[in-house]
Amino acid sequence: MAQAQWWQRGIFYQVYPRSFQDTNDDGIGDLDGIRARLDYLVELGIDAVWISPIFPSPMADFGYDVADYCGIDPMFGDLDAFDRLIEAAHARRLKIVLDFVPNHTSDQHPWFLESRASRENPRRDWYIWRDPAADGGPPNNWMSNFGGPAWTLDPASGQYYYHAFLTQQPDLNWRNPAVRAAMHDVLRFWMARGVDGFRVDVIWHLMKDADFRDNPPNPEYEPGDPDIRRFIQSRSTDQPDVHAIIAELRGVIDEYDDRVLIGEIYLPIDRLVAYYGENLEGAHLPFNFQLIHASWNAPHLAALIAEYDGAVPEGGWPNWVLGNHDQPRIASRIGARRARVAAMLLLTLRGTPTMYYGDEIGMENVPIATEDAQDPWEKNEPGLGLGRDPERTPMQWDASPYAGFTNGRPWLPLAADFTTRNVAVQLEQPASLLGLYRELIALRRPHPVLHAGTYRKITALGDVLVFLRESAEECVLVALNLAGTVQDDIPLPPDTHGRVLASTERDREERVEGHLSLRPYEGVIVALDATA
Ligand code: GLC
Repeated sequence: MAQAQWWQRGIFYQVYPRSFQDTNDDGIGDLDGIRARLDYLVELGIDAVWISPIFPSPMADFGYDVADYCGIDPMFGDLDAFDRLIEAAHARRLKIVLDFVPNHTSDQHPWFLESRASRENPRRDWYIWRDPAADGGPPNNWMSNFGGPAWTLDPASGQYYYHAFLTQQPDLNWRNPAVRAAMHDVLRFWMARGVDGFRVDVIWHLMKDADFRDNPPNPEYEPGDPDIRRFIQSRSTDQPDVHAIIAELRGVIDEYDDRVLIGEIYLPIDRLVAYYGENLEGAHLPFNFQLIHASWNAPHLAALIAEYDGAVPEGGWPNWVLGNHDQPRIASRIGARRARVAAMLLLTLRGTPTMYYGDEIGMENVPIATEDAQDPWEKNEPGLGLGRDPERTPMQWDASPYAGFTNGRPWLPLAADFTTRNVAVQLEQPASLLGLYRELIALRRPHPVLHAGTYRKITALGDVLVFLRESAEECVLVALNLAGTVQDDIPLPPDTHGRVLASTERDREERVEGHLSLRPYEGVIVALDATA
């Protein structure tokens, strides 16, 4: 293939800035903290850091409620600290990707303050205002993702405004060209400052049905489900005209060299891949969250890998994600031992992997007492297990009193096991998960087949998944045992012989001739001998 772009070869690492590294002892991470940990990231071997929102914000949704798109919240630092971070990252050949939150602003954003000031305000149409329904209630049945109706009445003007998330997160009106122009300038502002790309928040939400028709009821809704599941979001999200809007964003990205556009999209595969754009003028990487919702058995994984791999359009580039700040930790979802196998899968599938901070040391969901809950979703719909605080707890660097994260009181509690599960301890243990991640990441450089080679399933029986990654230059076999039992004599293609490059147990280097056995929860990567 042609020389791959950095975002095709590389690995993304998501930093949740509140929880990565604090330097001013307020218990909340900051930009200088991220800068102080760049060498750790270089040694881990990742290529690009995506930072969740750092812009001025009332923090109703922890920065996903932006009050100024072109500034830095004082909690995280200032523009000088940001420039220092970019410079230090680039000096280490690390890329910096920012979170771009275009669907909604904070209700404290000056645009919204103007918009709600009166019906005649020139910015009125920057947001989505509608008259009440005939009975005085909300204009339609759309629900907020965080519970309750997605419409809030503004008594002064007698109209409702739409918010797909919190009341404090009014949706912008992307049908208004002035909104689009203003947001394009935001992208230019950051790219001119050196930012290497953007992860676009809820990109599939940007356009809504022009007539604001009701969403259809969801027959699968059950009492106890979150409110958002009451209806199928077919009118409020994923509208056909969103793709033209994304193509415009992509046009702005392409004004600068070598930048990347990533879209956050929770949709089934067939609709997800539309976000590459009909002529690849959409997102470079529409995030693929299939592994987040997967059942960890071999037939299911093989089916979803095949479906996704086959659905990515010609010229489009695949990507894989195990976790993020909205999802339970991978180690908690599938267990600590299977998380090692998941690491091998993430780093051997075709395309670009994205890692979530702390997953490389196996951080688990941290139970949060009701009085410590921070996440607005948990507060709005308590007790349903929707809260996202458990996966946002401070990074566990070492065994010192606050895990090396802060000297103050951390904004969320630390995991109980941080004295034993932390970076410092795992750096000393070659067989640790961190050691495994470092090895797997390092393997991708000498073996480009791991990011670029074709994918071919060999076996998907019960708990054993075996696949090949092939290119003109090399061929690698990956065999994963997802279960806690020994798997003897796994059938391999005839005449398979090669050498074990890596095992999740980090203790195996033997030759493989014709058959393979795996220990409980073991995965191996085998470099196959070149056939003469
Ligand atoms: C995205 C973010 C999530 C946020 C929501 C609203 O899904 O990842 O954290 O709450 O958008 O902005």
